[in-house]
Amino acid sequence: MSITPLRQQSSWKALEQHHSEIGTTHLRELFAQDPGRGERLCAEAAGLYLDYSKNRVTDETVRLLCELARECGLEERRDRMFRGEHINVSEDRPALHVALRMPRGRSLVVDGVDVVTQVHSVLDRMAVLAQRIRSGQWRGHTGKAIKNIVNVGIGGSDLGPVMAYEALRHYSQRDLTFRFISNVDATDFVEATRDLSPEETLFIISSKTFGTLETLTNARSARDWLVGALGSDEAVARHFVAVSTNAQRVADFGIDTDNMFEFWDWVGGRYSMDSAIGLSTMIAIGPEHFHDMLAGFHAMDEHFRTAPLEENLPVLMGLLAVWYVEFFGVQTIGVMPYEQYLKRFPAYLQQLTMESNGKHVTVDGHVVDYDTGPVYWGEPGTNGQHSFYQLIHQGTRLIPVDLIGFGKSLNPLRDHHDILSSNVFAQAQALAFGKTEQEVRDEGTPPDVVPHRVMEGNRPTNVLLGEILTPRLLGTLVALYEHSVFTQGAVWDIDSFDQWGVELGKVLAAQITPALTSAAEPELDHDSSTNALIRRYRALKHR
Ligand code: F6P
Repeated sequence: MSITPLRQQSSWKALEQHHSEIGTTHLRELFAQDPGRGERLCAEAAGLYLDYSKNRVTDETVRLLCELARECGLEERRDRMFRGEHINVSEDRPALHVALRMPRGRSLVVDGVDVVTQVHSVLDRMAVLAQRIRSGQWRGHTGKAIKNIVNVGIGGSDLGPVMAYEALRHYSQRDLTFRFISNVDATDFVEATRDLSPEETLFIISSKTFGTLETLTNARSARDWLVGALGSDEAVARHFVAVSTNAQRVADFGIDTDNMFEFWDWVGGRYSMDSAIGLSTMIAIGPEHFHDMLAGFHAMDEHFRTAPLEENLPVLMGLLAVWYVEFFGVQTIGVMPYEQYLKRFPAYLQQLTMESNGKHVTVDGHVVDYDTGPVYWGEPGTNGQHSFYQLIHQGTRLIPVDLIGFGKSLNPLRDHHDILSSNVFAQAQALAFGKTEQEVRDEGTPPDVVPHRVMEGNRPTNVLLGEILTPRLLGTLVALYEHSVFTQGAVWDIDSFDQWGVELGKVLAAQITPALTSAAEPELDHDSSTNALIRRYRALKHR
């Protein structure tokens, strides 16, 4: 499909003009002119309510942004994704994570195969394993029940599992211990295993490719740790399972492929937490809750697929990000969950958003002449308020923020939850409306302190509200951000599903490792800085 370059779209030009008219209008003014915007500029889907009225937009902005999305072919690209077409052009594959949560009985034939049937057959096998571990039926090599589950993986094979485990810990089987090892830094392995009994430990080696150096290095150390303690290679069969797309490499590593849970190359690593990569999640919360989570994902998928753009939560959030990045020069977007269980959600989102949209060429290979993916980052509230929110309130940069809150706490205790939630609304209010010079003076502030206390406001926020954090709602929330990322990628006309940029560092590391490990002084033919650093490292290492 041929698409007019972004900056030549008529809606882009209209947005430029529109920005010159309303870009500096203060939110105080927008609310004064239009008192109903708080009830109107909102949308709701699948148990999530989005208030986007505290953004620097009018109805006209939303109309133009949706027009831009249409002109950029968002709807066609979305439909092509759902049909399983090869929208990941640089790797010539579908990006079909939406098939991972299609209900049993649905059919989606891709390249001659019904992928929904494949998905459910793996989910069924995962459920059998999960139940056997949860019930104590799965025994280790010495006959003891498994009590510890250790996921070994990195990137999408770690961040999804660890985020979901933390998010859904409330629903987890508490007599099981879960650990996550990702970093090739041995400290990660040593600290994660130091208090575990090998007899009661199951390792899940999670790697889409089963070729990732960090994961294979940790997996080898895990095997040494286990075999060293249990005294026999035969122990591996009862203590290792694998999640991968590559059966040959799993077998070569020495894991019985009967203990392998499959997924497919059409699942991107950062879109895989609801595939077999979620095995640790399913063991923690049980198959029923895992299926609830899938249903939440699916509900948001259906909303994204069918709702008009103007009422479509992920589309609106994605377009707002585009609005700020392109027309306000915004570089970063904060995501602050006011829910302690979501403490790893920002870290999870960093891979989802930045590995997806950190691209500099369009799908047909032209260098873009506009900005693409912003930096996403965040921390749970209210902790962040006492560290970096100062810069958001009074710094010189514009940082739009998503604030995520819930009507109920999973741990109701005195008035904690109301205090927590009042901060969600108060932050959105303070960021939007600030405090004028007059207001500061009227408080009797000494004149020389007045400028320090003025808060300009006009800082945009989205507020997302759900009832309570459930497996279902977690699925909905993740799918919301997945499709927001998709929307941004469609407008920027980039491939949100490859990640070539991370390859070069891996190749160079592989070239450098021998120089660090060799006993003899190596011949160094890198640049002078790298050569000097390697020499310094070797000197420190051998001191
Ligand atoms: O290096 C980036 C990356 O390829 C991610 O996209 C992926 O999630 C991660 O590495 C892990 O890859 P794998 O699951 O194949 O071990």
